[in-house]
Amino acid sequence: TLLLSSAGMVQFKPYFTGELRSPHPRLSSVQKCFRSTDIDEVGDRTHLTFFEMLGNFSIGDYFKKEAITWAWEFVTEHLNLSPERLWASIYLDDEEAAECWLTDVGLPADRLVRLGEEDNFWGPPGAEGPCGPCSEIHYDFGSEYGCGKITCGTPSCDCDRFVELWNLVFMQFYQHPGGERDNLPEPNIDTGMGLERAAAILQGVPSAYETDLFKPIVQRVEDLSNRQYGKDQDIDYAIRVVAEHARSATFLITDGVTPGNEGRGHILRRVIRRAVRFGRRIELDGPFLSKIAETVVEHMGRQYPEL
Ligand code: GLY
Repeated sequence: TLLLSSAGMVQFKPYFTGELRSPHPRLSSVQKCFRSTDIDEVGDRTHLTFFEMLGNFSIGDYFKKEAITWAWEFVTEHLNLSPERLWASIYLDDEEAAECWLTDVGLPADRLVRLGEEDNFWGPPGAEGPCGPCSEIHYDFGSEYGCGKITCGTPSCDCDRFVELWNLVFMQFYQHPGGERDNLPEPNIDTGMGLERAAAILQGVPSAYETDLFKPIVQRVEDLSNRQYGKDQDIDYAIRVVAEHARSATFLITDGVTPGNEGRGHILRRVIRRAVRFGRRIELDGPFLSKIAETVVEHMGRQYPEL
């Protein structure tokens, strides 16, 4: 049902539906992901088309309480994030999840927010498939990153202050193309944490582009364009577009996609075209994307030898 893997759970769909038996009821993964829905957002501080997704999965095994308490343990005791910076969101009337956060974790009630279907109901990826209510862990970068509006101050504000770090999905339903939902054979867990966001938080920088995952790529764009990142908003935007799209196009081509007029090929073509368009804004000329791709290969080739 999908052109590209848009989430860590994609290859596990037959396990969630009961169509195939999972080799293990508990799984975890580092998954290359590509979200074509976000192409036109790339250039801001938060959206990426290609990213590395970390996840843990329960196929009819553990459920809400374990997923929530283990996630909290991981972020506070292993990533060592300050609990005061962390918020949780839950789906409107998910009292079971609320109970886990307030009683099992001990999260203060004023740092638990209830959000609707758009934010806290995940899936299905594509026209049909597994889906369910979810609960997210958000990181507060501090009021200095806020938009200053009177409504700012909780993760329901859509500005750069709060970043959704980890999404815990309580996969309970199968949604059909018409929108009707059936229960899955068993309740499952699907979680997703973007490595780039985790890196930004851990490295104390405002976005993925300042992390060691992106720095050499951004630097290459700076060198080729003779522009410095961090001096001018429009130039920064263009540098981010070029760096991100060069990275994502490199990974798509590595995985066998070639530019074309339809399907995956069309997505790659859009990415390349957009990179060229924003490249022109910083006076990049000639076949500059292939040069940036070389930096991506040098920088990420150890982890992804197929590059
Ligand atoms: N499947 C969970 C997520 O992508 O956030």
